Amino acid sequence: MSSIDRIDKIIDKYECETGVLIQLLLDIQKELNWIPPEAIMRINKRLKIPVSEIYRVASFYTALSLKPRGRHVVRVCAGTACYVRGGPRILDSVERTLGVRAGETTTDGKFTIETVNCLGCCALGPVVEIDGQYFGKQTTTTVGKLLASYT
Ligand code: FES
Repeated sequence: MSSIDRIDKIIDKYECETGVLIQLLLDIQKELNWIPPEAIMRINKRLKIPVSEIYRVASFYTALSLKPRGRHVVRVCAGTACYVRGGPRILDSVERTLGVRAGETTTDGKFTIETVNCLGCCALGPVVEIDGQYFGKQTTTTVGKLLASYT
């Protein structure tokens, strides 16, 4: 099924409803791992929602991405508590292991690296989150093993 067919199928669910933009975008994000330009154009065409409004919402929520994301999103905490416990070394290790910098996606589409200001579990720092799962007290060794466990 093409991306457009997948996008249309999701829009079908919301066609007769109002105030559905965020949920619709979340569904597309879940299906495609990002909000491609063609999704924005289809929503505009079918639901008559202005392109500017769709972009505004899509760029406001961190759960939505206007750039392609990998199958696995690795978020390294760059908050103060994690920073003083070695967060920068963990980020450096993740970047070297995956061969891309924070904000980028590996060429095979497998991983995206992001940084985040605090994951809310500072006592466990340095913390890494992968696909919503938290891993505390990371070292350069454990984070390398962790990444290798994602196939
Ligand atoms: S600073 Fe990293 S979890 Fe809070």
